[in-house]
Amino acid sequence: MIDTTPTRNLALDLVRVTEAAALAAGRHMGRGDKIRADRAAVDAMRLMLNTVQMDGVIVIGEGEKDEAPMLFNGEKLGTGVAPQVDIAVDPIEGTRPLALGLSNSIATVALAPRGTMFNPGPFFYMSKIAVGPIAKDLIDIDAPIADNLIKVAKAKGEHVEDLTVVVLDRPRHDKLIAEIRKAGARIRLIPDGDVAGALMTAMPETNIDMLLGIGGTPEGVLAAAGLRCMGGTIMGKLYPRNQLEIEQAKKLGLDINKPLLMDDLISSEDVFFAATGITSGDLLEGVSYFRDGAKTDSLVMRGLTGTVRRIIATHRLSKLSEISSIQY
Ligand code: FBP
Repeated sequence: MIDTTPTRNLALDLVRVTEAAALAAGRHMGRGDKIRADRAAVDAMRLMLNTVQMDGVIVIGEGEKDEAPMLFNGEKLGTGVAPQVDIAVDPIEGTRPLALGLSNSIATVALAPRGTMFNPGPFFYMSKIAVGPIAKDLIDIDAPIADNLIKVAKAKGEHVEDLTVVVLDRPRHDKLIAEIRKAGARIRLIPDGDVAGALMTAMPETNIDMLLGIGGTPEGVLAAAGLRCMGGTIMGKLYPRNQLEIEQAKKLGLDINKPLLMDDLISSEDVFFAATGITSGDLLEGVSYFRDGAKTDSLVMRGLTGTVRRIIATHRLSKLSEISSIQY
């Protein structure tokens, strides 16, 4: 018999983690200092993650790529008691936009049962295609761009011309952009932040239908966690930058030609995801500060139930400063 007793939703603990990171990092908006912003977010995130009742280990950390202060892979976090979980973090997804005061930077964390998160090893980049629930069983990373777009348009009862594809604005995407244009779809170029880009495909109010292109592998796993909760999907393929990474893939037994499906990226429904806006973007509002307070906007989601919460919180900074070591 199925046990129908409601179980704990760890995402409700995670939102305190992403709120803390966003509140700490938001102070650095536009100050041009990525490292200090990252340090503030990482410190806040680590402190709050250690209060969560879990036996967690970081599988997806960040830091090496930007030589930033790190929540490092293999680091143990939480109170050390069950459940045993893998953790994916990106204390600032979009450090450059935050440092420059541009849009779409978020703080984000995901949890999944131990051993269920893809470990990307040395791979910085992967090709990605992501869509929302309606088109989730129709996409194929190996199919021509036009075919994917036609299938998604058909599933939505629309024309390809009605679709909008979000793509990171990078020279490496010139050919991809030309192909999307040739197929007839509209394009939304984003300077950074393809986790937000992927999640937008599952939020009809954003008018984004598909994410395409090469972005960070850690961001791919985080997007998979979020999309798993929202009923969408992401498919990827490792994108080695050089011969060394090709050799490393062979040694690790990773096939760079094999598509990574949702179940390869996160092999459990029992996933938790939270994100808080740092600078305002299409997905979330950024942190706003006012006299003695600040406001945050967060997404809080759980795979097992598919519940997606939007949490707008007001924080009384004078009160927090009495009990917290984090500098808000
Ligand atoms: P950070 O989290 O390191 O700030 O990454 C921002 C980002 O734009 C990601 O959203 C994206 O996946 C990746 O960088 C793309 O990498 P690159 O900037 O090297 O093209």
